[in-house]
Amino acid sequence: MKTIDRNDFPLLASYTVNEKPLVYLDNAATTQKPLQVLKAEEDYYKTSNANPLRGFYNLGIAATESYEMARHTVASFLHAKDNEIIFTRNTTESINLVMYSYALQVLKPGDEILISILEHHSNLIPWQLAAKYTGATLRYLYTDSEGILSEEEINQKLTDKTKLVAITHVSNVLGVMTPVEAIIERAHEKGAVVLLDLAQSIAHTPIDVKKWNVDFAVFSGHKIYGPMGIGVLYGKYELLNTMPPFLTGGEMISSVHEDSVEFAEVPQRFEAGTQNAAGAIGLASALSYVSEIGYEQIIQTEVDLMQYLMDGIKQIPEVTIYGPADAKLHHGVLSFQVKDVHPHDVATILNEDGIAIRAGHHCAQPLMEFLRLHATNRVSISFYNTKEEIDFFLNSIKQVRRWLGYGSQTSIYTNH
Ligand SMILES: Cc1ncc(COP(=O)(O)O)c(C=O)c1O
Repeated sequence: MKTIDRNDFPLLASYTVNEKPLVYLDNAATTQKPLQVLKAEEDYYKTSNANPLRGFYNLGIAATESYEMARHTVASFLHAKDNEIIFTRNTTESINLVMYSYALQVLKPGDEILISILEHHSNLIPWQLAAKYTGATLRYLYTDSEGILSEEEINQKLTDKTKLVAITHVSNVLGVMTPVEAIIERAHEKGAVVLLDLAQSIAHTPIDVKKWNVDFAVFSGHKIYGPMGIGVLYGKYELLNTMPPFLTGGEMISSVHEDSVEFAEVPQRFEAGTQNAAGAIGLASALSYVSEIGYEQIIQTEVDLMQYLMDGIKQIPEVTIYGPADAKLHHGVLSFQVKDVHPHDVATILNEDGIAIRAGHHCAQPLMEFLRLHATNRVSISFYNTKEEIDFFLNSIKQVRRWLGYGSQTSIYTNH
């Protein structure tokens, strides 16, 4: 086991704002990259760069081996088989692939697609379109005001008409986890296929696609300390093998004639054109890095930090927090509002202190409408954050209203 070492992340030590060290609390948007990942990408370009799956010369074979080794690492990490892993650009592309190559082939009028109100737009707009293109109906699972999904809601909405359930594992706004194992079991009883959006869970909790018996699962490398521009689609081989390609072109064929084409086997069928081999290798390095630290250590550290953050933020009367009261249910994410201050202003003021947090609708506008919120601020932590950083954040939040002149003689406006 490797102990958590913040020094692995060079950007955290070097970046400053107004000569103050960066306090990076936007890890749900993207994570920082450890030296190990940066080195793996650099090494690939320095030692093995050629176009994978094409070269009959040594360097080409080395590139292919590195790329396929990366696929193997991803497969092992998820408990899948190598030929069930498809490299894409990101979560968004993986979901669109399933929408075009699976949903549009099987759905028909009268069928239902079931998603939840927690979804990121990436796992929502494709299903709106799938419903529009096929005549199927899009239905939503609603949660309580903390984001918790009840068994009754699942049993009521997941019926014989449901053909596809596409659901996030962890909400990027409230941090809550959905009961994926119960959903998958119920969906299979009803003959529906399930896609899990792991974008927010992958960095915080172990994933086992085999144990869960899930049909499709998707995530982005950049959310788990890997590079941007590389994503993963896991699909059961039996399903992938029935699906036509999403993108067409080089390297996804077994033969092409003037008027016909035979597609390659899975997974090459879904990897048209030159792939982001360095990204795949960087991602594999990130997954190895996370495995070495181990989820036990990650969860312990992150829950401890979240508890500290929630205990502190609850002491600030002008702050309202969203989601469950239990820190263990937040998976690194905490949304909040500061009374009478627009979230964009909060984030801008915190930036003056070098603190990076998110503000807005977090690409989850239907959830915002459901919660009757316009926007929130969001703190999202990683194991590399510290209690000192959280203290710094809490102190800065306490100053926000004073900066804007609320209820204090010392406001920058009344004093000048
Ligand atoms: C839950 C969830 N799904 C999907 C996405 C989209 O990820 P990407 O932009 O990497 O495709 C995100 C990104 O924030 C997310 O949080």
